[in-house]
Amino acid sequence: MIDGPRHHHRLTDSTNDRARELAIAGAVSGTVVTATEQSAGRGRHGRGWSAPPGAALLCSFVLRPLERRHSLLPLAVPLAVCEAAESLAPGRCQVKWPNDVWIRERKVAGVLIEARPPEWAVLGIGVNLAIPDEKFPEDLRWPATSLGHGVDAEAALAAIRGALGRWTVAEPAEVVEEFARRDALLGRRISWHGGGAQATGSGTATGIDDRGNLLVRLPEGDTVTLGAGEVSLSLE
Ligand code: BTN
Repeated sequence: MIDGPRHHHRLTDSTNDRARELAIAGAVSGTVVTATEQSAGRGRHGRGWSAPPGAALLCSFVLRPLERRHSLLPLAVPLAVCEAAESLAPGRCQVKWPNDVWIRERKVAGVLIEARPPEWAVLGIGVNLAIPDEKFPEDLRWPATSLGHGVDAEAALAAIRGALGRWTVAEPAEVVEEFARRDALLGRRISWHGGGAQATGSGTATGIDDRGNLLVRLPEGDTVTLGAGEVSLSLE
């Protein structure tokens, strides 16, 4: 269980920004910032993240210090979110590499990790709880969904605290093993852009390596390795 002090805001720009300030000021590991509403919620790749007030769990945890076993944190956190979500609502959760959480083939939660290694990381988690389909921005309407079934934010936070307590101390090998069980991309055709040497491409996802990189088999048979920080993916 991660059970540090909690700072709740009715409205803030981004819980990750508040948690980052607390981390810089020396907040203890496990400190969590929550908000009912964000005015400038942030997603990966510089995208925004929005949710109607009170309809999502918006939280950011401070984790410190960062150690070797945290090398796969970007994969461990969505595994924790999967476990928590499954304890709250029916349905099996999967992870779309590196850290989107899916339920019934749609995105229910996102993770934004910002870190100053080896000092601290901020684990930002947004879980859609009760957002009607028409309230999602039009471009997200199909891929996004909510946990539903009357799950409230406090129950979701408690479940996430518990699951993070387990997954933030897991050994990398355990993370890789569990990720393989929840890999939403396995065997699927994907395309990517934004990588270094292989800037764009498409192929079939075949799993992850022991460093958490995505393995993609190209149509010619070669396999490329994609690092999570570098690429943006879509399903074909
Ligand atoms: C993504 O899927 O792109 C990541 C979304 C992460 C959103 C959460 S909501 C709580 C925390 N505060 C933010 O500004 N972002 C994260």
